[in-house]
Amino acid sequence: MGYNLLKGKRGIIFGALDENSIAWKTAERVHEEGGKFVLTNAPIAMRMGQINELAEKTGSEIIPADATDLADLENLVEKAQEILGGKLDFVLHSIGMSINVRKGRAYTDQKYDWTQKGTDVSAMSFHKVMQTLYQKDAMNEWGSIVALTYMAAQRVFPDYNDMADNKAYLESIGRSFGYFFGKDKKVRVNTISQSPTPTTAGQGVKGFDGFIAYAEKMSPLGNATALDCANYTVTLFSDLTKRVTMQNLFNDGGFSNVGVSNEVMATFMGDD
Ligand SMILES: NC(=O)c1ccc[n+]([C@@H]2O[C@H](COP(=O)([O-])OP(=O)(O)OC[C@H]3O[C@@H](n4cnc5c(N)ncnc54)[C@H](O)[C@@H]3O)[C@@H](O)[C@H]2O)c1
Repeated sequence: MGYNLLKGKRGIIFGALDENSIAWKTAERVHEEGGKFVLTNAPIAMRMGQINELAEKTGSEIIPADATDLADLENLVEKAQEILGGKLDFVLHSIGMSINVRKGRAYTDQKYDWTQKGTDVSAMSFHKVMQTLYQKDAMNEWGSIVALTYMAAQRVFPDYNDMADNKAYLESIGRSFGYFFGKDKKVRVNTISQSPTPTTAGQGVKGFDGFIAYAEKMSPLGNATALDCANYTVTLFSDLTKRVTMQNLFNDGGFSNVGVSNEVMATFMGDD
């Protein structure tokens, strides 16, 4: 269902790998709401993913960019404005990767060049994206920038590994850059802290099935899906949230404020 919330708005969507990706669902919803955008992903993801299908479906062009590479980002931001015919109104950063997680390396046994790579891809890339947009003055006033994060930034989830630290860094960058983007350009910056979601990145976390089932039982409204996240992002890109900025916003069915639920208690009471 569309409400025309993004009619006339232009943007960039990072991170659509396949139809499970949160960025994929967001691109579909932004398209339904009348927004126009350029899709981008790492050059390697072009070969693995099905991004062409999404581009066709949404009438979008694709510009490959490694989000850790400033030259790629500069090219992306320039070309996107050319293609879309003006400055940008919204940007979604939906990027995460940890080699330690991927290779099953424990938090207490990090290989630090992997840790550094993960930090660059998952957190510093958010700064690089925003610095490129800021220096090129590529955002329209009252534009909106969103990145995706997870609650392991605040609380310990042992198998989330070094991604927890990357998310804490990402959220801090959102606040810090949000100050300057707000003051200097009237642009808002927020992070959405999303429930566990069955995507390529999500399922890479050890014990993901247990993790998502536990969160489902803890959350009064159940886990937020990728589509729920897409819908929330649409509201943040719309003019209905003009003065929401520098926030970490939970889209998690209530999980973050629950100590324990009756369902989880029941598993310890022998009456499940
Ligand atoms: N899935 C979950 O459980 C969950 C929960 C909370 C937050 N998130 C966050 O949501 C975001 C999107 O992840 P997803 O779950 O949709 O998984 P996904 O695997 O579909 O998306 C991750 C994307 O990051 C891209 N990427 C990796 N390295 C890159 C680079 N160097 N340059 C540009 N792009 C690069 C990948 O190609 C991929 O498209 C991530 O920030 C993730 O941490 C996911």
